[in-house]
Amino acid sequence: MEFKAIIDAKARNDAGCAVVGGYEEGDLGIAAGQIDKQLDGLIGKLHGNGDLSGKLGEVMLLPTPAGTAAARVLLIGLGTRAAFGRKQYRKALQSAVQALAKTGASDAAVYLALEVVADLDVQYRARAVAEVFCAQLYKIPDLKTSAKPKPPRLSSVGVAVADARGAKAATEGLRIGAAVGSGLALSRDMANLPPNVCTPRYMATRAQRLAKDFPSIKTKILDENGIKALKMGAFLAVTQGSDQPPRLIVCEYRGAKKNAAPICLIGKGITFDSGGISLKDPPAMDEMKFDMSGGAAVLGAMRAVAELELPINLVVIVATCENMPSGGAVKPADIVTTMSGQTVEILNTDAEGRLILCDAITYSRRFKPAAVVDVATLTGACIVALGNHFSGLMSNDEALADELESAGVRADDRAWRLPVGEEYADQLKSNFADIANVGGREGGASTAASFLWKFAKDLQWAHLDVAGTAWLSGAQKGSTGRPVPLLVDFLINRVRAT
Ligand code: BES
Ligand code: MN
Ligand code: ZN
Repeated sequence: MEFKAIIDAKARNDAGCAVVGGYEEGDLGIAAGQIDKQLDGLIGKLHGNGDLSGKLGEVMLLPTPAGTAAARVLLIGLGTRAAFGRKQYRKALQSAVQALAKTGASDAAVYLALEVVADLDVQYRARAVAEVFCAQLYKIPDLKTSAKPKPPRLSSVGVAVADARGAKAATEGLRIGAAVGSGLALSRDMANLPPNVCTPRYMATRAQRLAKDFPSIKTKILDENGIKALKMGAFLAVTQGSDQPPRLIVCEYRGAKKNAAPICLIGKGITFDSGGISLKDPPAMDEMKFDMSGGAAVLGAMRAVAELELPINLVVIVATCENMPSGGAVKPADIVTTMSGQTVEILNTDAEGRLILCDAITYSRRFKPAAVVDVATLTGACIVALGNHFSGLMSNDEALADELESAGVRADDRAWRLPVGEEYADQLKSNFADIANVGGREGGASTAASFLWKFAKDLQWAHLDVAGTAWLSGAQKGSTGRPVPLLVDFLINRVRAT
């Protein structure tokens, strides 16, 4: 998809489809008002006779309207002007893409970024257009053998802005939005693949391909021997029941001065979580192919950062393996020594995410990171607490937590702060080792995070539990790519702050 800012009248007017918005009660938006004049008051009449309400998300296509040069006009309801904010703006854009994709238009002029949206500048309004268009037009790389429906013809989207200054800001916004879009697509593609295709080795191949596509990225892959040499006893315990070899993926991006401390993003890459000897129930076990979503998300964020050439240093670490039962699998009551030296009694082999992550967090210390953020589909308890709307956010650093929380708001990929620390870590006491890997049902998302907290110690660290947000179940089943938008926004704003 090509995105561009447009100011010149001809490019705007000749579009295959003009997308304009109108508020409730016949209160036409900026572009709709102009086009209404060309159409001899048609839009106003549609409001008057009750055919058009302007309710948020409403769409009406006017094919071959006489009086305007556009081949089609797509009217989008914006709701009330008073309530029109960030969320409503994005919702309106979503409705616009859905409707546009059904038309035969190959190019569109989107006028919605001309509307005034509380607190949003032109750059953001344009960025949201690219983000929403990319996300909505994403197609699962399915393995269906039936005839594929024709892809939408839409290939070029112009975003109308008022003047040259607006065009400059919008161009930058579109660049950011498209980068988020391609990071999101990479992440969703990987997570949507079946676990017999998306294995630890496959994830490593995708990370190597990133390094090939972007010279600014260096990828290092450690195999089982490399992981053994690092003494990652907890990671090795999880993988030992599987026939698929594990991988530790390390991608380094250098966009800033060599000695500038990097941000470290760590992802959980369990390509299938059967639970191991603490086997899961069959219903929905298939969804555990998404248990590598954290790993996919940090690789997606890496891609976006490289595409944007952000002036930061970024290190992405993905610990990836399967969690399987077998004669050689780790057993409940086994005790292992982590890379940090702390011993762990594995009471439940299904609490495997924290085991691979604790070693990855210890490994991240060698980069002397400015901050470490781990991303994981860590607990069912987080879904019970927050549903599918918010990712869980735990941190030992107030400023870092605030940064991530506001990034989630801006990116429309929100996270909600949950507690972490000593009280919950106390639930993880073991009579036989330094710490147990489970601590009862109460506060499950926070005890899991507090296990990691024991390893993060003095690092500026945050944890995103995306168990409820990384994928959708039911008819919509598939990866959402969250929290790629949050992560990219966080990194962009790190640049602005420094
Ligand atoms: N990958 C799961 C978490 C999960 C469960 C994500 C359901 C999405 C849906 C994780 O490895 C796990 O199994 N966690 C256990 C922890 C428990 C044994 C303490 C859980 O949440 O049940
Ligand atoms: Mn598990
Ligand atoms: Zn898991």
